[in-house]
Amino acid sequence: MDTESPGFGGAEAEARTLDAADPGHRHLFLVPPAEGGRYPEVAYLAGNSLGLQPRATREELLADLDAWRRLGVEGHLEAERPWLPYHEVLTAPAARLVGARPAETVVMNSLTVNLHLLMVSFYRPAGERTRIVIEDTAFPSDSYAVRSQARFHGLDPDTAVVRLRPRPGEDTLRTQDVLDFLAAEGHTVALLLLGGVNYLTGELMDIPAITAAGRAAGALVGWDLAHAAGNVPLALHDWDVDFAAWCSYKYLNSGPGALGGVFVHERHLGDPALPRFEGWWSTDATTRFEMTPVSRPPATVEAWQISNPPIFAMGPVRTSLELFDSVGMPALRERSLRLTGYLERLLDEVTTDRPLTVVTPRDPARRGCQLSVRIGGGSANELTKRLRHEHGVIADAREPDIVRFAPVPLYSTYHDCWRVADALAATVEATR
Ligand SMILES: Cc1ncc(COP(=O)(O)O)c(C=O)c1O
Repeated sequence: MDTESPGFGGAEAEARTLDAADPGHRHLFLVPPAEGGRYPEVAYLAGNSLGLQPRATREELLADLDAWRRLGVEGHLEAERPWLPYHEVLTAPAARLVGARPAETVVMNSLTVNLHLLMVSFYRPAGERTRIVIEDTAFPSDSYAVRSQARFHGLDPDTAVVRLRPRPGEDTLRTQDVLDFLAAEGHTVALLLLGGVNYLTGELMDIPAITAAGRAAGALVGWDLAHAAGNVPLALHDWDVDFAAWCSYKYLNSGPGALGGVFVHERHLGDPALPRFEGWWSTDATTRFEMTPVSRPPATVEAWQISNPPIFAMGPVRTSLELFDSVGMPALRERSLRLTGYLERLLDEVTTDRPLTVVTPRDPARRGCQLSVRIGGGSANELTKRLRHEHGVIADAREPDIVRFAPVPLYSTYHDCWRVADALAATVEATR
């Protein structure tokens, strides 16, 4: 199947050699067939958008369906993993993944719903401290969420929401600029809510330094970890983060629209002064069925839960978290650094004489696995279509001009990275 590309000389053979030495865990995943190009499977670089399906997920889902068939309502207590406390099965592995204590972590709802529930507690504008700070390239959904929170509190979102911009001519935020902003204007900030890894540029923020500066300025500090969970090691408890939320459909491979996770630092747990929205699952499990009209929330993050857990959505998260537990984030990060470093080296070759620029920080400590490429004078959508249909390379476009490539350490290969570079070389015309 391999044929040497004129653009890359012996690089394809090198990619195969690297794969043999550093194979990852691709065998545990189902890789879609390619619709174009020379290889039977796609080169899947879109795990930052939707992770691939673990082989184990189907069987686990079928087992849950079977328990429902066999047990009906009795499954709440008698299923192999009883449904009433099913979320508890996910707590310890989710806590390990993000560096939290079990009482600080719960899997529930989806990401933006969770951000809203957390902002009910942690965005409480008062006096001159009314502002919410996000990054200018925050995911639009986060922007909508914080603007609607400002409006909910009777504030003008155009003044209540501050968007931190990179310096002119730069693509990513400098930590020092965030710290300088907080030093100058922190007294007006009620909440700092940033992406741990920026969805567009792939920049990994200095979460501990920014959290410390935000808290020192008297603000609450929350993180959207959609692109960080399962991508980079996290230590949310030790970093003193106030709260965080993430999704499980990207690096956690739990399926489209999968459940999200939530972290609330233990210093906030059991605080009766914190406003929270409540439902059945916000009350202490031991007295839940006493059917009393007033809840008794536990002194854990489970107090933020509202509804009973959706079992068929929880199974895929459990399967995924077991995988992360068995491989471990440190090993994944090591492989991630090797894979992304390799892709970067190949992209350096392709981009020198093409209108393509890698906008992700070059320092591996300032990024996860994703590399984002800006297309000069072209459309990101058009390019990703060609990569897919002509080369079987699946990447993801963010209009107008960014294409994102994420070699995911669990299942991506060096050969996938080589296919990206080879396909770009064939698709984007060289300028000299
Ligand atoms: C950084 C970030 N925040 C928020 C969202 C929205 O998540 P959801 O639709 O699951 O609420 C996404 C989705 O991709 C995202 O990448």
